[in-house]
Order: sequence, then C-alpha cells, then structure tokens
Amino acid sequence: MDVDARHLSGGNLATALRDSRARTLALVGDLTDAQWQPTRQLGINPIAWELAHIAWFAEFWILRGPHQRDGQGFAQARHPPRFAGPDAHFDSARLAHAQRWVENMPTRAELGVMLQGQLDACIDAIPGTHGGATVGTDSATAHPDPLYFHRLALFHEDMHGEAFCWMRAALGYPAPAGVAVPTIAESTLLSVPSGEVRVGYDAEDPGFAFDNECPAHTVRLQDFAVDSAPVSALDFARFVDSGGYDAPQFWPSVAGTWRARSHLVHPQRWRRNTHGAWEMRWFDQWLPLAPDTPAMHINAYEAQAFCLWAGRRLPSAAEWEHAARTLPGFRWGHSVWEWTADAFTPYPGFTPGPYREYSEPWMGGDHRELRGGAFATHARMHNPRYRNFFQPHRCDVFAGFRTVAG
Ligand SMILES: [Fe+2]
Repeated sequence: MDVDARHLSGGNLATALRDSRARTLALVGDLTDAQWQPTRQLGINPIAWELAHIAWFAEFWILRGPHQRDGQGFAQARHPPRFAGPDAHFDSARLAHAQRWVENMPTRAELGVMLQGQLDACIDAIPGTHGGATVGTDSATAHPDPLYFHRLALFHEDMHGEAFCWMRAALGYPAPAGVAVPTIAESTLLSVPSGEVRVGYDAEDPGFAFDNECPAHTVRLQDFAVDSAPVSALDFARFVDSGGYDAPQFWPSVAGTWRARSHLVHPQRWRRNTHGAWEMRWFDQWLPLAPDTPAMHINAYEAQAFCLWAGRRLPSAAEWEHAARTLPGFRWGHSVWEWTADAFTPYPGFTPGPYREYSEPWMGGDHRELRGGAFATHARMHNPRYRNFFQPHRCDVFAGFRTVAG
C-alpha cells in the first residue's frame, strides 16, 4: 500500500490531494489566532506563510508551467499566479526564513479561499480527468511524466503536514487530534548476509521518485545484524544514567563540540520528575518514559554516542534500505525517523529534478541522512527508498535511531 502511493493517478490522486489538504487544515484549524502568531523561532515558519506557500507550490508547478531557470537560478513559470502569489513571497527559495516573519500575510479567511481555489483547479488539471488535458499537455512539455507535478505537490503538502506537527510540539501546543504517542515492538537482532544489493529507484519504474532516490545502483554490503526496531527511550535512559553525556570517548570530533556548547546531560526534551524518574515532553504535556516508547527528539550526535557506549554503530543508509525491503521482521515507519551513519550525498549519476531546491543544495554539506518515517509522517510517505535529511544537531524533528552489531 505504501509503495502504491508513488503510482497514484486519476481519481485516486484527486482523493489523495483532498486528503492531504484536509489534514493540513486540521493541523492548524483548531489553533487560536494567538497561536498562529508565535514569537519567531528557528526551524519554524509562520503558519499563514506556510499555508500560502503550500498553495503557491502546487499552483506554480502544476498549473503555471512550463518552467525554466532565470539568471539567478530561480525557477520561473510561464503563467502568472491565479490563487497564490507573488512568487517573491511564497517561494521558499526566494524569501529568506527571517523575512517570512515580517511580510504581510493573508488572513485566515483569505487563505481559505486561496487554498480551496488552488486545490480545485489542480484537481481539475489531473491528466485523464475532465478538463485536465490543457494544463496537462502544457506541463508535459516540461516533464515526461504528466503526473509528476501532481504527485510532487501531494508529497510536498504531506511533508508540510509533518512540519506543522513538529511546530506544534516545539511550541508546546496540544497534540493534533488523533495523534498518539508512538510505540515500538521489543527489539531483537536480525542477521543479514553479505552481498550486492540494489539501492534507489530504477528509471523504468513508472511511479514517482524523488530526484535524490535516483539512479538506482548496486552497493556491496558485508554481513551485519540490525535491531528489528528503533532504540527505546528506556534503553536510552540507561546510557544517560551511566553518565554517557559526560564521557568524552562517546562524543568524538564535532559531536564533542556540539555537546560542550549545548551543556546537555540528557536529551533536551527530557526532565526528572520530583521522584527522580525521567519524563519526556509530548506537545503540551510531560509523560513518563513508557517501555514501548522509542527514543525521540534525539539528534545524530546523541544517537552516535549511544552506539559507541553500547558497542554498536548506526546503520548505513544502504544497509537500512536493504533491511527494510527484505527482512519481514524489520519494524519501521509510524514511530520515528531514524538517523543513519551517512552524510546526505548524491547517488552516482544524480541529476536534479525540476524542483532543484529540494535536494541538491543540501547534498555534500552537513546534512545527515535519515530513513523510515515518524508517527507524524503520512503513511503515503513511508517508503523503504525514501531519503530524509536534516542537520545532525536537529532534535526538534521526530527522530530516533536503531543500531547495528558487526
Ligand atoms: Fe515547501
């Protein structure tokens, strides 16, 4: 089912676009006007900007093509905006993060009209449905797959839905309706024999692929044994309680620099209650660590430190992908994103897609690759080949990890 999300078309694609939009609106609709206007914070966008950006993105890529790059490298569309504009305000590549907090933004009522108009027009333009031929033909001149931009806009909105979840968690707002603390099964070690494995998406696959997942290529893996589930919060507490944050051998190089600067002696969103037991922050609440809760809001340095303490290591992204695709007992998705040992780099032969800002600017820098999917990630996004990436110090996202022995 999850993989089929990459092959959505026609009425199913329309249903998915409506579903994604309903989720977007539900994730912010219950918040008060005051909650829509938090103080500026790193990693968070103003809600009104983010909603207008979602509408802009879909309209820009689905309805306004074909596209080209201007002299400064910005994407340009042939047709002007009808619902969400101007480009200078709502293209994340054009408007710097700080500026999103000072520009005048549409009101909630204006956003409602903008989002509905854009969604209806984009759905009308799905090739193969009524009225879709005109725009579909136009977009097809820019991309060989006539459904590419619809699917891209769908996944883009799903990603912003998750960003709204982590915004609510970071600001201490209530958990969105229907969102429960993720659980994990008890972990065992699963053995994987050495061999050559295929990683990434084949060009012949007719479904959607993100540019960073291509091209498929062969990787040689040695024998390894991998946890069947992400590391639990209680296991992570054993590392913390052993004084792991104060042991320099677990924090080599840049990890040590981060550790010294942060002054943390436990995960940032943990505290001890009056009886000395650990609690974790969950949106607007403090909860005791339950045995089936994954370690969460853990950054890459903390994940790596745990591994060094436990005599383990983080999986490579190729190991993770191969395990997720081939081991029936490998439990992933629906709990936390998982840090891997790898920096986020292009696959051999990588070519950026039309939405070049998605992957290319972050490749080869300090971003670290994550795999899997969190409780706040739409199930459509769960795919064993999907590559997420964040800077290693980020703990606001719903990230944890699993370990490898050998
Ligand atoms: Fe975006």
